[in-house]
Amino acid sequence: MAKYKIAWMPGDGIGVDVMDAARIVLDALKLDAEYIPADIGWEFWCSEGDPLPQRTLDTLAHTDCALFGAITSKPKEEAAAELIPELQGKGLVYTSPIVRLRQTLNLHTNLRPCKAYPGNPLNYRDDIDIVVFRENTEDLYSGIEFHPVPAAVFDAFLQHSPKARRFADVPLEQMAVSVRLVTEKAARNIATQGFEYAKKFGYKTVTIVEKPNVIRETSGLMVRMARQVAKNYPGIELWETNIDAMCMWLVKNPQNYGVLVASNMFGDIISDLCAQLVGGLGFASSGNIGDHYAVFEPTHGSAPKYAGQYKTNPMAMLLTVKLMLDWLGELDMAVRLEKAIAGVIEEGKVRTYDMGGTHSTLEMAEAVAQKL
Ligand code: NAI
Ligand code: MG
Repeated sequence: MAKYKIAWMPGDGIGVDVMDAARIVLDALKLDAEYIPADIGWEFWCSEGDPLPQRTLDTLAHTDCALFGAITSKPKEEAAAELIPELQGKGLVYTSPIVRLRQTLNLHTNLRPCKAYPGNPLNYRDDIDIVVFRENTEDLYSGIEFHPVPAAVFDAFLQHSPKARRFADVPLEQMAVSVRLVTEKAARNIATQGFEYAKKFGYKTVTIVEKPNVIRETSGLMVRMARQVAKNYPGIELWETNIDAMCMWLVKNPQNYGVLVASNMFGDIISDLCAQLVGGLGFASSGNIGDHYAVFEPTHGSAPKYAGQYKTNPMAMLLTVKLMLDWLGELDMAVRLEKAIAGVIEEGKVRTYDMGGTHSTLEMAEAVAQKL
């Protein structure tokens, strides 16, 4: 029996292309794993009314972790219109399967390293090494949303917050509410994950990115928890910045930062910003990590216009494989893979279109495999 069982979820569009690239590299590494295909994505929404069928969750339950490509998501009305005729008009509502995976499996930590590899023509600077820890299950993504706003909900606002009075004349169907819910547990956890990582990999600072001067309660709680956690890590400095200023600082002096910690929404924003500093979506890897399970995925989506063309950059996916190897404890393989990736980037002989080259997704993966 193989040492690991890994759920294999290519999903939609270029998810398939980059997962083929991942397989080339995993085979070259000779990881002792069985790869178990699992259904996820748009075609299952259209044909079954569920982009994340129960059988997929059952498969995940019997694996060590999952590797995932990308999915296509569309707005509510458009999604409903693409259901097969038999499923139309049944009130099925599309929700993103990846957001659901994160919440159902409590994959509370979103890890997004953004490192500039020397020789990448897309680097903003060559000395950037930032790791974003984004809380992955709460905040504005908690899914507690109202439109129209139920009268009982608005009455509760009026009763408990004088600030709600300003909106008392607005008809309930003319307003929408998305709840930003943050728990101490999740806030403490994401800060702890950030500090642990900083300690393990030698980063000198952890920066909490929030907005407590305006969003007093939720951002306030995030910062308070970060301060508490920081006390356990005397060698590592806690920096506190506001999300808006941080976007500016990340463009001005990205080389000054190490680990960044943020709530779900702000973490989403800064991780895209940081990804672009080191080459963009073609280089952005991520892990959704829980206590006992993890789903690894490149940050990019299904890029429909490139689907099946094997043109897009597999490095985001290959760096994602590296994160998976780290998490599985296959540290030697992870180091070898990162060196091979860095080697191919530095040589600059094999490059996909985004790097100014003409090589294919699989040629790039083959080049990495050769170095292994
Ligand atoms: P996208 O990430 O799919 O692509 C945007 C553009 O970025 C592409 O057209 C391409 O120019 C470039 N790009 C993306 N990946 C690349 C790679 N590996 N190498 C080189 N260039 C790359 O984002 P978009 O177009 O906004 O969304 C397309 C679909 O993907 C939508 O249905 C969206 O909902 C979904 N999506 C899914 C995500 C996921 O699976 N986690 C994340 C983001 C979007
Ligand atoms: Mg994003």
